[in-house]
Formats: sequence, C-alpha cells, structure tokens
Amino acid sequence: MRKLHQLFAPATNPAGKSRHTAIFAAMENLQQQIAAYQDEINAFHTADAEALEAFRIKFLGTKGIVKGLMTEMKNIAPDERKAFGQTMNSFKQLAEEKYEQLKSSATAGTLQPAGEDYTLPGEAITVGTRHPLTLVRQQITEIFKRIGFAVAEGPEIEDDWHNFGALNLPEDHPARDMQDTFYISTNPAIMLRTHTSNVQIRAMEKGKLPIRLIMPGRVYRNETISARAHCFFHQVEGLYVAERVSFADLKQTLYFFVKEMFGQDVKIRFRPSYFPFTEPSAEMDISCLICGGKGCNVCKYTGWVEILGCGMVHPNVLSNCGIDPEKYTGFAFGMGIERIAMLKYQVKDLRLFSENDIRFLRQFTGAV
Ligand code: PHE
Repeated sequence: MRKLHQLFAPATNPAGKSRHTAIFAAMENLQQQIAAYQDEINAFHTADAEALEAFRIKFLGTKGIVKGLMTEMKNIAPDERKAFGQTMNSFKQLAEEKYEQLKSSATAGTLQPAGEDYTLPGEAITVGTRHPLTLVRQQITEIFKRIGFAVAEGPEIEDDWHNFGALNLPEDHPARDMQDTFYISTNPAIMLRTHTSNVQIRAMEKGKLPIRLIMPGRVYRNETISARAHCFFHQVEGLYVAERVSFADLKQTLYFFVKEMFGQDVKIRFRPSYFPFTEPSAEMDISCLICGGKGCNVCKYTGWVEILGCGMVHPNVLSNCGIDPEKYTGFAFGMGIERIAMLKYQVKDLRLFSENDIRFLRQFTGAV
C-alpha cells in the first residue's frame, strides 16, 4: 500500500522525467499549439464550400483539433485546469465563430477577399443608344413598309452609268453641276455615288415588275462642310414602277408618309421643279415644325421647309433600263435623312451627326 506522501511525490514517467515536469511541458506546449491554431484561424478568410468543410472537419469535427485538445485536460495539473479550460473555451469559440461567419458569407455567395468591400454600390453599366440618323432611317423605312414598299441597298462606289448616264444625265449635261462629285483619280468613270438613285437603276435593270422599293444609304458630294452641308450625308429614295402609276399616287403616298412622320396637323405643298430623271418634277415642302408656319429663321420666315424632291420617272430612264415607257409608268422621290432628323429633333447644325460627341448622341433614345 502506498503511503500518503507518496501520492504527492513526483511520479516517474516512462521517459524517466518527473510527472510534474511532463505536465508543465505539456501545458506550455499546448498553449503554444493553441496560439498557432488561433493564428491559423484568424488568417483563414477565403473559403469555397470545399475549403469551408475542410476547416470544419479540421477544427470542429469529432476528431478535430478542438475535441483533441479538450481530451488533454486530463493531463493538466489540477491547479492549471481552470486556466486551460478558459483558454480552450475561447479557442473553441473562435473556431466556431469563424466557421459561422464564413458559412454565412458563402451562402450569400459573396465570399469576400481581404481588402474588398462588397457592400459598396456597383458600377452602373451604360447602355448605348441608337444614332439619331439610324432612328430616323428606321422610322422612314417602317412607314413605307406599311404601304407595301420593300427595302433595297446598292453600292456606294458606282460607275458613271448607274449614277448619271442611265438617269438621263449624259456626260456633257449641265445638270451634272447640281451634284459636285468625287471621282476616283485613276479612273474617272468610277465615283462615289451622289445619290441613292443608282439603286433605282439597278432595280429597274433587273426587269422584274412591278417595283415598289425604298432605298436608304450614304451618299457623297464635294461640298464645303458647314452647318447646312456635308461631303457625305444620307438619303432615302423611293421608286414605284407599274402599269398606270400616276402623279396622284405619288402625292397620296407622300401625304401618308408626312402625316405618319410628323403628325396629322402638318401641311404639305408641292412646287414645280426640275430633275433630269423625272418629268414632271416637284419639290415638296412641309409647314415649318419650329414655328408652326408663322415664320422663323429655320424656315427663313416663309413658314415652309423643303423636305424632298420627286416626280414621274422620265421615259428615257425607263427605256435606259429596258422598261417599255408606253406600258409602264412610275414615280420616284428622294429625301435627305439629315434634313428630316434636323426637323424632327430641332438640330441646327448638320455636323453634329458625324462628330460622335457622346453628349449629343446620348440624347436620342427611342423605339423602333
Ligand atoms: N436624286 C435626287 C437628289 O439626290 C432626289 C430625287 C430622287 C429627286 C428621285 C426626284 C426623284 O437630289
């Protein structure tokens, strides 16, 4: 039987050290280990679901570090147990809190790397708008599509025949002066088209009748750039060729267009004019949208603004394209998209359309 004092006598462990020394060493070791684990937990901040589960198993699992350290309690000297218990409790709490915190940010799908603040408002994505000329072109073509016109396009670099010759403008015809032209220096028979009438010729040459087409596109003229003129601009031309097409059809078609485009109250007038490719020819004015016809600087105090040229297709043009002018008649018209856009949006300077100033372009939004 052991004597009482032997109970408190240093016991000898297998390594031959006294039991007190072993316990002291274990306690110190544990404190160091816990401190290292605490550092590890504090530094742990990125976790996908997998890493988070690994964290849970490592620290909080049934065979995890927290449980493992708890079992060391029995090896701690009784008077040290309270302190160890407190250390362990706060260590466990640290691991648990860290786990909960990571779990809730993972569930929200916003695991946040250090140094990022995901609560800051996001950057707005700016959505572009259509160019005003695109909006107007689409609106014009939509209106004509509703009354049976199809859309056709053609080349911007054109030969003399399709831009001038077939349109009843022979080489020495003075009317060519109406349209200052850019020629290709190495081949003066090739030019930048001065109007989209070349598409009319190409459509008629195909010989399939009736033709009911609307032709939008870019055109070029050797003009000095100013608020009212540019070396390139855009047109929409229309062509209707069939049997018994009359000037009344032309007028009615354009009435419909203007009312759809500018509203039912707009007034229209036709003035006799001259184009080599139409006979008779006319220009069409609408009552000024700015002053309502009272007179202002936009309409030069006349109350009217010109918006297009038109007429009955000249018989020479029909026969140039192989269409019998005795059997068929047609009307044609042409308008500048910039002119329509300027009136619609009250833009005073044509150059704004091609300068790409974002502050200008941003103002145009619209359906179509
Ligand atoms: N092509 C003419 C121009 O550019 C417009 C127009 C087309 C006039 C059709 C009459 C008929 O000026």
